[in-house]
Amino acid sequence: DVCRHFHDVEFVKKQLDIMAMFKMNYFHWHLTDDHLWTIEIKKYPRLAEVGSVRRNADGSIHRGFYTQEQIKEVVAYAAERYITVIPEVELPGHALAALATYPELGCTGGPYEVCQMWGVFPEVFCPGNEKTFEFWEGVLDEVAELFPGEIIHIGGDECPRDAWKKCKKCQTRMKQENMKEEGELQDYTVHRIEAYLKGKGKRVIGWDEILEGDVSKTAIVMSWRGKTGGIKGAKRGNEVVMVPNDYAYFDYYQSKDVDKEPFSIGGFVDVAKVYSLDPTEGLTAEEGKKIIGVQANLWTEYITTFSHAQYMLLPRMAALAEVAWTPQADREYSNFLNRAKLLTQRYEALGYNFAKHILQEAKSNE
Ligand code: ACM
Ligand code: ZN
Repeated sequence: DVCRHFHDVEFVKKQLDIMAMFKMNYFHWHLTDDHLWTIEIKKYPRLAEVGSVRRNADGSIHRGFYTQEQIKEVVAYAAERYITVIPEVELPGHALAALATYPELGCTGGPYEVCQMWGVFPEVFCPGNEKTFEFWEGVLDEVAELFPGEIIHIGGDECPRDAWKKCKKCQTRMKQENMKEEGELQDYTVHRIEAYLKGKGKRVIGWDEILEGDVSKTAIVMSWRGKTGGIKGAKRGNEVVMVPNDYAYFDYYQSKDVDKEPFSIGGFVDVAKVYSLDPTEGLTAEEGKKIIGVQANLWTEYITTFSHAQYMLLPRMAALAEVAWTPQADREYSNFLNRAKLLTQRYEALGYNFAKHILQEAKSNE
């Protein structure tokens, strides 16, 4: 996540180095949100002027975006490490940075501001307006060119629908399309964008909210509200990436002794919990084949430096790597823990910051 706090190309490259060390082969790059728009779009140059600048209440300014040249540089750096980059462009929610730039794309017409508080906000894109689709397609045209990988993340999470209820354009679209409730508008949006990207040879992935509608079977589901969405998705035939918040949100605390930890968004996911993730639990062998991967999320509301990011990633990423690459039957926590401790010699040799005390205190369950 480079939208809550922007992180520069050097930061991203260093994170890719860590990912390569653990054979993580996809980097999901969360590029747009309420709090910043971080990718240059040539067709919409004002995004980089307005959407990439946040004015905080204390008078400070937080800003940042990647030029298309920088995006290419990161994509190439990742490719050298056998990592494919999946860009995320959020729609129809998490839209405030875009709406601050182009208020006509919201239901009320604004004005809107790039958001300075953390949370989920009711100001979302207006899918009743054809111009909104024109904008999304224009953005995705350039994104599809910049990222050679097949998969594009279109968000889909946490989109309140109150504005749509009061919006003439949204209500007109709903009548024309025979929709009874606003959830169907979200579904319409995802279907339309998926079809558009299919025409460019791309596949979409979206947060598990996309399952609340009748999403197409070719969309990939990213399960974040626990494993529930992933299980539902796999059973109905969608491919799934598991990033259940209760196992794989690395912005959560990794110790219960929170006073000794850097301030975090909350939650609790320690290294043992990460290791205990069985991505295909609750599924038949056939359904389990639909689980194509696991991921960790590193949201950056409170993560402003690379050193802090490293601390949140290590040692938990070692546990996630083993979840990803080692068959469940061959995994055993105390065995892992011994190797995870040995691995810290590499972190030290490389000058990495990591949660040292957490490994020292970690008890094997034998
Ligand atoms: C999410 O954490 N809103 C995907
Ligand atoms: Zn609307």
